[in-house]
Amino acid sequence: MVTLELKRLGQTFANPVVLASGPAGFGLELASLFRWRPMGGLTTKTVTPTPREGNPPPRLVDAPGGALNSIGLVNPGMEAFVAGVLPSVAELPTVRLISFAAPHPEQAEAMADTLGAAPGTDILELNLSCPNVEGRPPAWEAGTTADMVRAAAAATKTPLLAKLSPDVPDIVPVAAAALEAGAAGLTLVNTVRALRIQWDTGLPTLVRTWGGLSGAAILPIALAKVFQARQAFPGVPIVGTGGVMDLGGLLEMVMAGADLVGVGLGVMVDPVLPWRLVESLETWMTQRGFERYEALVGCAHRGGLHVSEQT
Ligand code: SIN
Repeated sequence: MVTLELKRLGQTFANPVVLASGPAGFGLELASLFRWRPMGGLTTKTVTPTPREGNPPPRLVDAPGGALNSIGLVNPGMEAFVAGVLPSVAELPTVRLISFAAPHPEQAEAMADTLGAAPGTDILELNLSCPNVEGRPPAWEAGTTADMVRAAAAATKTPLLAKLSPDVPDIVPVAAAALEAGAAGLTLVNTVRALRIQWDTGLPTLVRTWGGLSGAAILPIALAKVFQARQAFPGVPIVGTGGVMDLGGLLEMVMAGADLVGVGLGVMVDPVLPWRLVESLETWMTQRGFERYEALVGCAHRGGLHVSEQT
């Protein structure tokens, strides 16, 4: 009998698949799917201290193996989210990870205080890595990461994930800074900063020049970051996100060291994909005689699948 259930960050996840922040919005359009079959978790679209209208169009453009987005953290702002959206999110039968971002540590602190105490919040995810807003993402540097996480973590007892950027040569010092500052776990990774040029005008396709690349194209990059972080921090909960579009990608992410697996762009391609991934994982494990999902997590660090299952 296969069990996909796992306990992390003070919560029991029915399975390891989590909808990543962004493509699923606040999850409410998918409410019937959440009620149809259990899903590990839902990460809501990032909210900010005040409402944001987002970047000028185009906001989503095609790229080989994925898509480039320049959404710009569109959201109604924390107050409207807590009053008008979170009560409905709270009714979804899943673990709710509430994503938030702030320009300064003082605002991160205030947001963590309010969101962490709001009914419906199970876990907080501090987005330190959006490439589509003004300024450098905090997660490009260990120092700014630590400042933001320290402020947020001090304001709440709710477990806090730090969502980091793949756009750093070495994820370990940034992850270490987040963990030392009070993060309970890591979400790895956000989109990869990237560019497209419109060849008929000779200009960048996106108004803000840069966008965030997601989709299958970034799977190997996300795997590398998850693998490095798992090696450096064996006991830390990791949500592996980036380019998981099928069972193979999910298995690689888990074997690299992700406890939970985020599905982002895949939900836009096929809203039922997270549910199909859970079923496929269960079938795959049953066919191979693996009972414990946990035996798969990080097995690439322990001599591979079969050695790992015996230990
Ligand atoms: C966006 O809203 O621009 C995407 C979110 C992110 O990259 O964090």
